[in-house]
Amino acid sequence: MKPAKVDVQPAERPAMENWLWVSGHGAHPARDAQADPLASSQGSWTLTQPMYSAKELDSVKVVDRPPETVGDKLAHGVVKLLRRSFDFFTGYVAKEIPKEVLEQKPIPVAELRAKRDILTDKQWLLRIILLESIAGVPGMVAGTLRHLRSLRLMRRDGGWIHTLLEEAENERMHLLTFLTVSQPTWLTRALVLAAQGVFWNVFFLTYLVAPKTAHRFVGALEEEAVRTYTHCIQDVESGLVPEWKNKPAPQIAIDYWRMPADATLLDVIRAVRADEATHRFVNHSLANLDQKYDFNPFALAEASPEIRGSVPGFTREESAEFARQTQAKLLGKNEEPGKTVNRSSSSALHLASAAPRCPTMAWRALRPQSNQPRTAAIRIRHPPPAGQGMKHSSACQVPAPA
Ligand SMILES: [Fe+2]
Ligand SMILES: [Fe+2]
Repeated sequence: MKPAKVDVQPAERPAMENWLWVSGHGAHPARDAQADPLASSQGSWTLTQPMYSAKELDSVKVVDRPPETVGDKLAHGVVKLLRRSFDFFTGYVAKEIPKEVLEQKPIPVAELRAKRDILTDKQWLLRIILLESIAGVPGMVAGTLRHLRSLRLMRRDGGWIHTLLEEAENERMHLLTFLTVSQPTWLTRALVLAAQGVFWNVFFLTYLVAPKTAHRFVGALEEEAVRTYTHCIQDVESGLVPEWKNKPAPQIAIDYWRMPADATLLDVIRAVRADEATHRFVNHSLANLDQKYDFNPFALAEASPEIRGSVPGFTREESAEFARQTQAKLLGKNEEPGKTVNRSSSSALHLASAAPRCPTMAWRALRPQSNQPRTAAIRIRHPPPAGQGMKHSSACQVPAPA
């Protein structure tokens, strides 16, 4: 008996204008966002980031981590060189405007711009778009390389990959947010294309041979990003960028950072700066870890925004203590998740050395690296359901990032 004939014809294809696709300029103009919630790049289903409180946004500071090792100095030097070159070619200025000028009503913005004492809104935007298009590269390169390493060695990664990819995603959202303010010219697009081609490959090779230095480089780069956004915020607050003074926040930013509907572009820039401070903190902390054996302390919980905004990064001992406190919270042996605890790093060393060795997590015996007292605060990001999946093995109670 012959088998029934199977219809192998593909389903009827929808007309081209009804396909779900997103062009480089946002959602396809033919799609109706009201009729089809999947048709738009806007909406609460897109990527989100926790909203910062005003206190958390204010806690972000410009901080520099002095380089210690040869790799640190190299990374620091390259970042400074890149910054100076970039400042020169984009005409960046960071002059102190006298108080008496700022107190004039109205502030002579046109005159200051003519003298090239301040940046225009277009100059700020050009700089931000170029920076953000580059900033999205390192996390993706590092995440990809660690992903491939995990596949190649058939070994767990220790929770680094997701944090790195999340950073890349966050930077891409920064770029997409500012693109809604104004579209770049073809010259800007060409610059982004060229810079991406060079930077991806250089960072890829650097991360292959010296991942610690690569993370330190990103940490130093983010120090500069915090510095630049702090300058931008001060200019907008002072009235030196009148076009942005009360400009409403783009919808994509309201969705992403869960902002109130009446948020302004200035609120968005402050949130972006807090994100950059997080990248600074995370990358400097990761650079202090053993790249092969240590797990990522931020895989299951993140430090409070105040810590991320004001400390360059955790030392390896502080990361160990942070992981230990996270473990205690997730196992229900400590305070409730979401509540902040403070503990000095001296007890961290004690706790770390007293911890059971965990061969899979390979959180190895720690060496003291710093005598500076510092506190660590924890905010559990994703508290798991009670009794689920936190015991890595009977010998190791440490939460088990993959
Ligand atoms: Fe960014
Ligand atoms: Fe960043």
